[in-house]
Amino acid sequence: MTRPRLYSGMQPSADSLQVGNYIGALLQWRDLQDAYEAFFSVVDLHALTQPNDPAELREKTRRTAAQYIAAGIEPSRSTLYVQSHVRAHAELAWILSTITGFGEANRMTQFKDKSARYGTDQTNVGLFTYPVLMAADILLYQTDIVPVGDDQKQHVELTRDLAERFNARYGAAFTVPIPVIQKETARIYDLQNPTAKMSKSAESDAGVLWLLDDPAVSAKKVMRAVTDSEGTVRYDRESKPGVSNLLTIYAALTGRQIPSIEDEYAGRGYGDFKKGLAEVVVNEFGPVRERALDLLADPGELDRVLASNADRAAEVADATLSDVYDRVGLLRRS
Ligand code: AMP
Ligand code: TRP
Repeated sequence: MTRPRLYSGMQPSADSLQVGNYIGALLQWRDLQDAYEAFFSVVDLHALTQPNDPAELREKTRRTAAQYIAAGIEPSRSTLYVQSHVRAHAELAWILSTITGFGEANRMTQFKDKSARYGTDQTNVGLFTYPVLMAADILLYQTDIVPVGDDQKQHVELTRDLAERFNARYGAAFTVPIPVIQKETARIYDLQNPTAKMSKSAESDAGVLWLLDDPAVSAKKVMRAVTDSEGTVRYDRESKPGVSNLLTIYAALTGRQIPSIEDEYAGRGYGDFKKGLAEVVVNEFGPVRERALDLLADPGELDRVLASNADRAAEVADATLSDVYDRVGLLRRS
C-alpha cells in the first residue's frame, strides 16, 4: 500500500534543539511516520543565508540529525537526510526561481522581517530566494502534506502557487502540497518571557530548555520559570502565560490532558508543580540526550546512515528533476 508523502525540515542553526522544536516539530514528525512516507531534512543550504562559520555548520548539521534520530525519527522507516547531499534541491530551486515573480517573493513576510532586522548590508539574495529553495525541497518529493509552524504557512502557500503555475504551463510535474499547521497547544514560549516563542536565537539562555543541556541545568531553569502571584495551577493563556506554558510543556511531554494536571496540583503551590515538571523534563530529555550523545560519539556511523538515506532521497528527487528538465525544454546530454 502506498502511503501519502510528508516532507519537513529544520535548519541546523544551533548546537542543540530547544523544547519548542521538540514538542512543536519532532514529536509530531515522530507520530506521523507510520501513516505517511516521510522525508525529513536538515536544511544546511538554507542555513547559509545566515552568518556562517564552516566548521560550526558541519557540527550543527550532524548534531541536528542526531537529535532527530534520538527523538524517535527512525532512519530505517523515514528518509532522514542532509539537504546538500541531494543536488537536485539547488537545481530545482533555479528552475522554480524563473517562474517566481519578483513581487511575489518580495511579499514574503519572513524576508521582510529579516531584511528589516539585518539592514541592506547583511541581507543577501539567498535570503530573498529562501522560499523558492524551500518550494524545491517540498516539490521534489511529490509531497502531499507539509507539517510546519504558522510562520512557514506563507512559504507553503507560495510552494502551492509555484506547483500549480508550473503544472499549468508545462503539464503535471508536481503534486500540490497541503500545509498542516502546528496546533496552538504545540507552541512553547520562553520560560522567562512567556509571551515570546521559545527560540534557538533567544537573547537570554535562562528561558530556553535545550535538549542537550545537562538535566540538572534544565531542572533549575524550570524551577526558576516566571509565573504569577495567583498561586493556582490553572491554564489561562491571557492572564497566566507563564503557568499556562508550563502546563502545555507538562501535557505535551506526558501525553496527559491539561485539566488532569490542574486537578493533580489543585491546592498545591507552584513549587510542587515546578518540581513535578522538572522531573518530567529530566525523565523525557535524559534518554534523548544520551541517545544523541551516543550517536555523536560515532560520527562515522552517523555519516553512513545519512549517506544511505540521501541515496534514497536522491532516487525520488532525481526522477522529479529529470521530468522537470524535459518539460521545460533543456536539451538532454546524450
Ligand atoms: P526553527 O528553530 O525556528 O527553525 O524551527 C524549527 C521547527 O521547530 C519549526 O517546525 C517550528 O515550528 C518549530 N518550533 C520552533 N520553535 C518553536 C516553539 N517555541 N514552539 C513550538 N514549535 C517551535
Ligand atoms: N523554512 C523552514 C523553517 O524555517 C525549514 C524548511 C526548509 C522546511 N525547507 C522545508 C520546512 C521544507 C518544511 C518543508 O522552519
